[in-house]
Amino acid sequence: MKETLLKIREDALSAISAPDADLEAIRIRYLGKKGELTAVLRGMGQLTAEERPVIGQIANEVREAIEKELGAKAEAQKAEALNKSLIAEKLDVTVPGTAVNVGHVHPIARIQREMEEIFIGMGFDIVEGPEIEYDYYNFQALNIPPDHPARDTQDTFYISENILLRTQTSSVQARTMETRKPPIRIVSPGRVYRSDAVDATHSPLFHQMEGLVIDRGVTMGNLKGALEMFAQTMFGADTRVRFRPHHFPFTEPSAEVDVSCFACGGKGCRLCKGEGWIEILGAGMVHPNVLTMGGIDPNEYSGFAFGMGIERIAMLKYHIDDMRHLYENDVRFLKQF
Ligand code: PHE
Repeated sequence: MKETLLKIREDALSAISAPDADLEAIRIRYLGKKGELTAVLRGMGQLTAEERPVIGQIANEVREAIEKELGAKAEAQKAEALNKSLIAEKLDVTVPGTAVNVGHVHPIARIQREMEEIFIGMGFDIVEGPEIEYDYYNFQALNIPPDHPARDTQDTFYISENILLRTQTSSVQARTMETRKPPIRIVSPGRVYRSDAVDATHSPLFHQMEGLVIDRGVTMGNLKGALEMFAQTMFGADTRVRFRPHHFPFTEPSAEVDVSCFACGGKGCRLCKGEGWIEILGAGMVHPNVLTMGGIDPNEYSGFAFGMGIERIAMLKYHIDDMRHLYENDVRFLKQF
């Protein structure tokens, strides 16, 4: 019996030492309920009382030896598997990466966002309106009745008699007065359309940003302050703002607004064509007729409005001398921003 036990130990240990040993199969074969060691232990009943503890001890030692080897081999197999996967999955973080070609934010979109940020910072909401618009919101609600001469200055694309492509974002002013109650503080960016021939400063499609503020006691001083803040944030802290009298049907009084040339500081240079000033927008106090048509009592409320071309701001800020660059989408041009 002793020989059988020692033989079992030898066989088991040699099986375990094989490189790809199936440890579970070996355990079942030798130590399992129907295993070889168990079978020997079952035969112990036939032993004498003296032999039994001796054989019992050997059997225990054999079991322990096999279990110990199984345990050690299991550890070794686990370590080897880990090692293999570490080698297989090794990542060389020093290999140079492949650059992904990412797109660019278009300079118009970029300037538009920058403008939005400035006005959001002053408490304005962004409101958008439709590009296909009723004649009413683009003209009539802005104090431009059907035969008004101001219509001639905006070469309008008509879709039908009372539907058109909006020529100005001022249409959003008229819409906003109908849906919001004062205090109103909005800017409205978007595309506008005019039947202009393409040249360095004209395009039949361009972008404007409108501003509208209505509350009790709003003054021209508030308008000037807001525009000064805008101009200084956009063009630099030294920028000054100048109002020149002008006429728009929907504002009274109206002004054209210039900023001091941020290239030469006002001395006169190529950018400002020697003027020292650059015109950037139109503005004024909302005409009482416009307030009334928008359902707002001009005796209780007053407001200011302004409108500016986003292309113009982008061209000034980035020193772009031809508007057509902005629409041709030549990546060599766009990559510069
Ligand atoms: N809508 C005017 C334009 O397109 C600009 C403007 C807006 C002027 C608001 C005054 C007030 O020229």
